Amino acid sequence: MPNFEAIYSKNANNMRKSVIRELLKLTQQPEIISFAGGLPAPETFPVEDLRQAADRVFTKNPTKALQYGTTEGDADLKAELIKFEERQGVRLGPENLLVVSASQQALDMIPKLLLDPGDYVIAGRPTYVGAIQAIQSYQGRILGIPFSPENDGFDLVELDKRFERAKRDGKKVKYIYVIPDFQNPSGICWSLEKRKALLAFAYKHDLLVVEDSPYREVRFLGEHVPSIYQLDQHGENRGCVVNLKTFSKILVPGARVGWVMAHPDFIAKLVIAKQAMDLCTNVFAQMWLTEYLKTGKIHELIGKTCDNYRVKRNHMVEMLEKHMPKRFDLTWTKPEGGLFLWISLPKYIDTDAMIHKAVAEKVAYVVGSAFYFDEPEHNCMRLNFSYASKEQIEEGIKRLAKVVSEEIAAHEAGPRGQTHPEGM
Ligand SMILES: Cc1ncc(COP(=O)(O)O)c(C=O)c1O
Repeated sequence: MPNFEAIYSKNANNMRKSVIRELLKLTQQPEIISFAGGLPAPETFPVEDLRQAADRVFTKNPTKALQYGTTEGDADLKAELIKFEERQGVRLGPENLLVVSASQQALDMIPKLLLDPGDYVIAGRPTYVGAIQAIQSYQGRILGIPFSPENDGFDLVELDKRFERAKRDGKKVKYIYVIPDFQNPSGICWSLEKRKALLAFAYKHDLLVVEDSPYREVRFLGEHVPSIYQLDQHGENRGCVVNLKTFSKILVPGARVGWVMAHPDFIAKLVIAKQAMDLCTNVFAQMWLTEYLKTGKIHELIGKTCDNYRVKRNHMVEMLEKHMPKRFDLTWTKPEGGLFLWISLPKYIDTDAMIHKAVAEKVAYVVGSAFYFDEPEHNCMRLNFSYASKEQIEEGIKRLAKVVSEEIAAHEAGPRGQTHPEGM
């Protein structure tokens, strides 16, 4: 065997395993109730409609579906995407669109195009682990910005302070990465004011905004807020926002199809990056989803998916209220969309250590520390509410509340009963 370690590139040595993917292996025993993954509810998958759409592809144009396609993406799919976005008030031409192998591919292409080793990306603390992995794999660094206590976006004072300090220290910031709609992991949705303020900040400092919106359509409560991409388009239209979308949370993740909306010049550069990666997105999958989109059923499907997740989210919040110890330092977000909520626990609880106890009690979560790229917080966790059934949510939260109550009781019993001293 060659000495692989000796020949890996600097980029490869910067690649980090996804803690979540590792954790998922641990939680795949059948008796475990897992709130760990980010899986959409399988009962929302329109299996029969998709089977019929696949049949139509094979009946109408099988050889096209089995051939290489263009890197930019299938023209018919782009036409459907333009209609889909138009319903939400987004104006697009095909030159503003790139079809990708779901949004994770775009999350990898963007730092590949923009970052030289040591360059910085502004991102929330915490943020999506797949974006952190991609940035770090190109030797990029992250300038972390905390969220405001109102859970409505970045703490803008900290944004200014940290950016100015970074500039003074000679750090080169290349872009801002945000998930304004029901962020993974926290479930936070940015207010209109904060979106406008972030765009103004990007204009002022001439920065690109990468707006990652996999959960945008998955709003089950409250009012729709324009995307930062839309705010730019309907405002000064400087073309400094790149918006990533995907079918993963509104249809099926297994199709691995997503799209990027951006200024045509940036799309052209992304096309070149994509050529070296996979030549084109799976042609069959593109034509298959196009056939499905032509039925117009996606809008009803999204409505039903949102109804399903509203019930599950409400149930999880209700169960947390019922079973978790009632304390000022034990709180959770109450998202109006998306797939996740975020629990903050007393400072002395280390959820990395507690996961083993939770798994022993047959319940799993994702450790909060996985979503930090610097000085991780250890007293938090992400729970997914889309995948488990209502019954599993009830039972799983009871089990989790028992584990948390025992941690608190052990701490309160004093140093002898304490498993994780304060500050860990
Ligand atoms: C914020 C965020 N971005 C991107 C992705 C990747 O999604 P996909 O590649 O399936 O489109 C995910 C997946 O969970 C996510 O949560």
